[in-house]
Amino acid sequence: MRLIILGPPGAGKGTQAEKIIEKFNIPHISTGEILRENISQQTELGKKAKEYVEKGMLVPDDLVVKIAQDRIMKEDCKDGFLLDGFPRTVAQAVALDAELDKLGIDLDKVINIDVDKDFLVERAITRRYCPKCGKTYNLKFNAPKTEGVCDDDGANLLQRKDDTEETVTNRIKVYTAQTSPLIDYYRAQGLLFDVDGSKSIEEVTEEIFKGLE
Ligand code: AP5
Ligand code: MG
Repeated sequence: MRLIILGPPGAGKGTQAEKIIEKFNIPHISTGEILRENISQQTELGKKAKEYVEKGMLVPDDLVVKIAQDRIMKEDCKDGFLLDGFPRTVAQAVALDAELDKLGIDLDKVINIDVDKDFLVERAITRRYCPKCGKTYNLKFNAPKTEGVCDDDGANLLQRKDDTEETVTNRIKVYTAQTSPLIDYYRAQGLLFDVDGSKSIEEVTEEIFKGLE
């Protein structure tokens, strides 16, 4: 299964990705996660990306296209993958199509999580993550069993630097201007299906699984 999950910041892409990769046994490729890891390890890529990510701007296409191309070439992607947060511009989508063409493979589906903007800021600013295993929580909608601590490994939960109200608002604007055109791009290819992301986490998962049948 070769999939893309599309949606604005805080829509639930990462949350649903966890369920999808488990069901289909495919790797989860989040360019946001890869960038954050590089920033925290202060790699050359991380140094170039840091300011963009922390301000909620898009990292230049050439950098992220290279990240995605390198990742898709890896052995574990042979039988499928789930792209989360990539592509994010039409130029990135065109580059991805060219790469897949070269590899002689096709996308199966593009999942579009559609959520009212009012929900997005609230979800993002109440999000917390585990720095050890990467699991995502939410203070309001998906709280850990013990406050501030990861259920799985006991690490103290953290908040992403780009999850302030100001930065999230900017990320939503950037999404609307630069990423939302991809909805029409993939609809025209007959690959896209919409799910209502304002429902509960479990209901959204159910809708996605139905769409992937
Ligand atoms: P990225 O990491 O991709 O962030 P994003 O797209 O802004 O999306 P988020 O991760 O914030 O949201 P999500 O949809 O994954 O929501 P989640 O499941 O966590 O990118 C970050 C930055 O990296 C970008 O701004 C850019 O700078 C750079 N970047 C990355 N890729 C790039 C690219 N291709 N090109 C250029 N730059 C790039 O859920 C959010 C919260 O809500 C959680 O707390 C969750 O528990 C909760 N929640 C989820 N679903 C529900 C529900 N149904 N009901 C209630 N709560 C819910
Ligand atoms: Mg995410």
